[in-house]
Amino acid sequence: MQHPSCARVVVTGGAGFIGSEFARVLVERGYRSVTVFDKLTYAGNPANIADLAAYPGFTFVQGDICDAARVDEVLADADIVVNFAAETHVDRSLLHPGEFIQTDVFGVWVLLEAARKFGLAKFVHVSTDEVYGEILSGSSVETDALSPRNPYSASKAGGEMMVLAYAATYGVPAVISRGSNTYGPRQYPEKFLPLATTNVLEGRPIPVYGNGRQMRDWMHVRDHAEGIELLVREGRAGEVYNVGGGNVRENLLIVEYILDELDAPRDLVTHVTDRQGHDIRYSLDTTKIRSLGWQPRIPFEDGVRETIRWYRDNRSWWEPLKSGEYEEYYRRNYAGRELVR
Ligand code: NAD
Ligand code: DAU
Repeated sequence: MQHPSCARVVVTGGAGFIGSEFARVLVERGYRSVTVFDKLTYAGNPANIADLAAYPGFTFVQGDICDAARVDEVLADADIVVNFAAETHVDRSLLHPGEFIQTDVFGVWVLLEAARKFGLAKFVHVSTDEVYGEILSGSSVETDALSPRNPYSASKAGGEMMVLAYAATYGVPAVISRGSNTYGPRQYPEKFLPLATTNVLEGRPIPVYGNGRQMRDWMHVRDHAEGIELLVREGRAGEVYNVGGGNVRENLLIVEYILDELDAPRDLVTHVTDRQGHDIRYSLDTTKIRSLGWQPRIPFEDGVRETIRWYRDNRSWWEPLKSGEYEEYYRRNYAGRELVR
């Protein structure tokens, strides 16, 4: 691609958790312009990008990736689009799958049409390790068959299929990243680590699904964002790259770090009825992206403990989020889930 100082990048979903960190990486690395295009759903938060407003090349545009006219306005003057926009929470996808199909499949198609029309130099689509489905041993490689098992991961797999179809059929220079479970500052407190941490800070129980022995391949948000930035520069069109932390750990270990770091009582841990269709384990083989020169830099325990402290020290970021719509969702998802032990 052209030198970053010449590249105009649109970051869809850039007011969310990973997209905002990615926009920060682009600004730090001197990209010519960075436009965050975001609908500001319940998960989008202007506070996540407030520090970027002072950068001369930075712009925020509110809009929906499903709105073709609005997408055209923003992509007409861009060189590269990086798509983070998505409905992202598995538990919500069990409650209302339709919204996931709309944004994660239809919205991706709208972006692809615009990329094709304006002849963009690169289309980077951010996907997830969940498209492989659970893997009980070993690690998923990019050539493995996709086997998504919940409405969120099925929608993400659908979006990916459309990206690959546009790459093969119309030559859209698309690259797909499949990232693993990401943790760090500014993650909406419906996800496990911020939910459990902020619950403890409020003296509320930690709801652990089933026995808590499920495993995720944890990665710090800065490592994830840097991996995707490398794919903007070096990812080959039509290719898929796993981006994973290499830290396959049980959920209960995260709980242990939280209780330890916040010096909280163990009886806050509450085992509740398991998630429907809960994938037991994910693990990614990252040989392919490592061959381009990326590797995760933040050690797991350091990163998790530092993240717990960030939520402890930044109550003004998360406290306003845990009200209204959030409380309604919390009741719908957690009420009546009897204890399993
Ligand atoms: P998030 O929920 O924090 O942010 C999603 C952002 O997308 C929000 O700012 C929201 O307002 C925006 N958005 C939603 N629908 C939109 C629409 N129709 N038009 C425009 N904007 C819209 O999500 P995240 O955790 O930052 O995830 C970002 C991407 O990374 C997603 O595509 C997700 O599937 C993928 N991913 C996430 C993880 C993870 O562990 N969080 C891991 C791998 C991949
Ligand atoms: O693997 C990548 C995926 O990671 C991303 O594609 C998704 O966008 C992201 O949300 C995340 O999905 P998970 O379902 O793994 O994340 P979540 O934080 O919801 O759950 C992590 C683990 O913790 C999972 O095994 C379920 C468990 N859990 C979660 C919640 C919310 C609990 O035990 N209790 C809870 O209350």
